[in-house]
Amino acid sequence: MKHPIKHIGLLTSGGDAPGMNAAIRAVACAGKHYDIAVTGIKAGYQGLINGWFTPLEDHALMHNLCRGGTLLKSSRCQAFHTSNGRRQAWENLNQAGIDALIVIGGDGSLTGAALLEEEYAIAVMGIPATIDNDIFGTDACIGYDTAINTVVDAIDKIHDTAHSHTRLFFIEVMGRDSGFIALNAGIAAGCSAILIPEHNQPIDDIIQSFTKRNLDDHPCIVIVAEGHKNGGAAELASITTQQLPDHDIRVTILGHIQRGGSPSCADRVLAGRLGIYAVEQLLSGASGMMAAVQHHQIRSLPLMETVRTKPTFQNDLFRLSNILAM
Ligand code: F6P
Repeated sequence: MKHPIKHIGLLTSGGDAPGMNAAIRAVACAGKHYDIAVTGIKAGYQGLINGWFTPLEDHALMHNLCRGGTLLKSSRCQAFHTSNGRRQAWENLNQAGIDALIVIGGDGSLTGAALLEEEYAIAVMGIPATIDNDIFGTDACIGYDTAINTVVDAIDKIHDTAHSHTRLFFIEVMGRDSGFIALNAGIAAGCSAILIPEHNQPIDDIIQSFTKRNLDDHPCIVIVAEGHKNGGAAELASITTQQLPDHDIRVTILGHIQRGGSPSCADRVLAGRLGIYAVEQLLSGASGMMAAVQHHQIRSLPLMETVRTKPTFQNDLFRLSNILAM
């Protein structure tokens, strides 16, 4: 029989996402509630390898609830991809008397957690947090709701100026491998075209769709996910300029503005639910699982399965987006 969990280590890893602080706070609150020690690990897996452990102070947890970023800081740690790095991490956990680990992050971070569990049989739970929302098995990841609202707000503003000058804008949003941000924010902001990695629209088809519109009288906003296979916003704008030289074309790359900002109510509530659930799962003896939300219910599914499965794309929504495009 496994011994009961007494001490949980907690880290945030990979690209930060608004709501990570709310998840950290939720884990700390659950720790207090169930009388379990919770130790923060700074800068993700880098801090785990370097032994950067830190207590979680109440005032910092409260102060940061409404802030984006992560009070524990984050990193993309190459060393954790190696077995030596993971061994060092495990030794540090052992030395600190930590018998379970909660990892808050995206697919790379959750893969690291799954490997650590597999290799060292330490109890781990993953909490999905990435603005890209590209994790299989959960309807939402922490940070995604805030990010799409940031994008919609930015496009609404660009729309004002695009309308005044009757311009064609290419707006690039994040999403290296997935188009959740582009698709959902693009629909909400009334974009004329939505270009995402999951669908390879050839450039000629895209340009042809512009020529069918009356670009002289109507502004046109095209949202492009950074991972779009046939080019990002700058490249598409330059090709379009060559083919439609009479049109006024501009490019905006929203970049890291999408990762910051005060988390939305939905992200804070999701973070609260997932954080508490992750602790309760560990206490009930679960390990190697990810806390997820499915049809409004919180549940868990095997970490290895989630990181090895491609997220289900919203094909139905993509079809609607073509009807909604003007
Ligand atoms: O966190 C996910 C993400 O924001 C991706 O959408 C983006 O491609 C990447 O992170 C950027 O990462 P970095 O900040 O390390 O350049």
